[in-house]
Amino acid sequence: MLSTLHSASLFSSLILLSIFNYAFAEDPFVFYDWKVSYITASPFGVKQQVIAVNGQFPGPILNVTTNWNVVINIKNDLDEPLLLTWNGIQHRKNSWQDGVLGTNCPIPAGWNWTYEFQVKDQIGSFFYFASLNFQRASGGYGGIVINNRNVIPVPFGTPDGDITIFIGDWYTKSHKELRKDVENGIDLGVPDAILFNGLGPYRYDQALVPDGIGYHTINVEPGKTYRLRVHNVGIATSLNFRIQNHNLLLVETEGSYTVQQNYTNMDIHVGQSYSFLVTMDQNASSDYYMVASPRFVNSSAWAKATGVAILHYSNSQGPASGPLPDPPNDLDTFFSMNQARSIRWNVSAGAARPNPQGSFRYGQITVTDVYVLLNRPAELIDGKYRTTLNGISYLAPSTPLKLAQQFNIPGIYKIDFPNRLMNRPPKVDTSIINGTYRGFMEIIFQNNDTTVQSYHLDGYAFFVVGMDYGVWTENSRGTYNKWDGVARCTTQVFPGAWTAILVSLDNVGIWNLRTENLNTWYLGQEVYVNVVNPEITDKTELPLPDNAIYCGVLSSLQKDRSQRVRFSGAPPLTITRRTILFALITALITAFISS
Ligand SMILES: *[C@@H]1O[C@H](CO)[C@@H](O)[C@H](O)[C@H]1NC(C)=O
Ligand SMILES: *[C@@H]1O[C@H](CO)[C@@H](O)[C@H](O)[C@H]1NC(C)=O
Ligand SMILES: *[C@@H]1O[C@H](CO)[C@@H](O)[C@H](O)[C@H]1NC(C)=O
Ligand SMILES: *[C@@H]1O[C@H](CO)[C@@H](O)[C@H](O)[C@H]1NC(C)=O
Ligand SMILES: *[C@@H]1O[C@H](CO)[C@@H](O)[C@H](O)[C@H]1NC(C)=O
Ligand SMILES: *[C@@H]1O[C@H](CO)[C@@H](O)[C@H](O)[C@H]1NC(C)=O
Ligand SMILES: *[C@@H]1O[C@H](CO)[C@@H](O)[C@H](O)[C@H]1NC(C)=O
Ligand SMILES: *[C@@H]1O[C@H](CO)[C@@H](O)[C@H](O)[C@H]1NC(C)=O
Repeated sequence: MLSTLHSASLFSSLILLSIFNYAFAEDPFVFYDWKVSYITASPFGVKQQVIAVNGQFPGPILNVTTNWNVVINIKNDLDEPLLLTWNGIQHRKNSWQDGVLGTNCPIPAGWNWTYEFQVKDQIGSFFYFASLNFQRASGGYGGIVINNRNVIPVPFGTPDGDITIFIGDWYTKSHKELRKDVENGIDLGVPDAILFNGLGPYRYDQALVPDGIGYHTINVEPGKTYRLRVHNVGIATSLNFRIQNHNLLLVETEGSYTVQQNYTNMDIHVGQSYSFLVTMDQNASSDYYMVASPRFVNSSAWAKATGVAILHYSNSQGPASGPLPDPPNDLDTFFSMNQARSIRWNVSAGAARPNPQGSFRYGQITVTDVYVLLNRPAELIDGKYRTTLNGISYLAPSTPLKLAQQFNIPGIYKIDFPNRLMNRPPKVDTSIINGTYRGFMEIIFQNNDTTVQSYHLDGYAFFVVGMDYGVWTENSRGTYNKWDGVARCTTQVFPGAWTAILVSLDNVGIWNLRTENLNTWYLGQEVYVNVVNPEITDKTELPLPDNAIYCGVLSSLQKDRSQRVRFSGAPPLTITRRTILFALITALITAFISS
């Protein structure tokens, strides 16, 4: 009897071994349980409700390596539906995991849902955030770090530390109040603060900053070099980031290694991410200011909204004092655009793959589809404030586009999005872009609003090849950078100006193209790109996940989920093939010994 048992377990172990060998290949899995809930915090000295992930605001950092598989079970403890989106993660063949309304049914309050995706062929600095209903204005965000595999050298020395910094405009009003204001056409006005990692400003000026506000401090050692990953997770404000007396050596942006250049400050627009190397090469006669100040605004009214954190050397002799380091001149409209144009791709550096980034010669590929997308400031359409792209304000249907496509449900969306502004009145509609699989798309964003808009495309990195003031024309192509424009996922478009991007449509799925500015996004400034492989095959897209949530016209497919779950918030578990092998071999040996 005993020996039968043993051989049975031996046999199943061997089967397990071969299954894991096949399914896990060389790519490790990481597992997390995250709970998204409200907590009380005082980012600006006033107690308010913020959205935390596992009790943290900002949330935990998802720290993984190229090609790892990520499994995150999200529990929604908010009082409204939730989705997390992974800004910059490409979800190859897998728009099912994108976490936006066009691809996923929201996770109802009290429910949990498990995301499972691979960070295939990616490196760099990104962030995740709660994508629905203006929630990011209350938090619900955290960092994503994708490290190089060991076999691919990073194009700079290993930093002595890796620090994630979130900057963003902040209001003491909740996301619910803010979205009401936006619906009613009420301007958001001057933010109450610019936060650094969820904390208000250091009291650099007694008159401007009230007493008793907690501020952020970064502790460093003299002489060492740190990698700072800076993300603008705010609502609508472009920010200038700088550190008193310290250079910012730009090395990476949103998954591309850049030509390494020193900047004294950098304009970071909503939704953008940058990595800088900062060397602690100053004397420690005092601490130093880190500043994030609003750009292109009326400075006298906005002076109170300046983010200030502290860089503290371990041997510092005293607090930071004196005036903040100077911002760039707001009236010099070309400064910011020229700075953006100066960011270049390091064509010789390897990244997720060993071959140099520049071996993908985007400048030599023939463009197959051209879209000129023009946005306008919010206007009344059928009595409601809406924003548009080419005159169409996107209306999210209650059935996600992706599910409607999967189940062949007609009438949910139309694949007829115009490639130019049409001569017709603006309308609210669910109209999406027909992307040609394996096509090469040129998109020109023409910003007719009076504020900077950042555009983000899910599922892809795109090449930023040009930007200029005025109206884009065919002749503008003559100015394109066809050699070392940087590949990234979020680009700024200045008011009264255009930005051109090129993107290779090699990732099947339905992908969100949106402004990252919450106020204009919320009112409809987004569209989706439908990338379909006309050939019938299961190789270019993963199947509908087993755990898909159903809603809209598909609600009846949803199984009852009344049972509630509890999370302990346990630390992540990393399983590599080696650990599994080790466990199984141990089991085998144990089985042999005991028989
Ligand atoms: C990420 O994890 C690695 C170990 O796998 C560690 O060396 C590194 O410091 C971590 N990075 C961050 C940003 O937490
Ligand atoms: C919800 O969480 C439970 C407990 O961790 C888990 O077993 C279940 O698979 C999760 N459900 C989904 C849809 O992810
Ligand atoms: C950047 O500035 C630092 C001083 O902070 C200097 O040592 C370094 O050589 C500069 N690097 C480049 C690429 O200009
Ligand atoms: C330290 O550096 C600051 C800024 O460059 C300078 O003003 C100060 O005089 C220096 N102090 C010493 C003791 O060298
Ligand atoms: C800037 O703000 C100040 C203070 O609110 C106001 O008096 C001034 O008119 C504003 N200027 C412009 C150009 O909007
Ligand atoms: C580009 O990357 C290479 C690594 O392949 C590195 O040696 C070089 O310093 C980088 N060049 C610049 C200008 O950053
Ligand atoms: C989308 O474009 C392809 C060609 O790229 C075309 O064959 C197809 O009919 C178009 N689909 C729609 C719905 O317009
Ligand atoms: C918006 O377009 C109108 C013409 O349609 C033009 O007069 C105006 O200058 C544009 N504004 C911006 C900020 O681009």
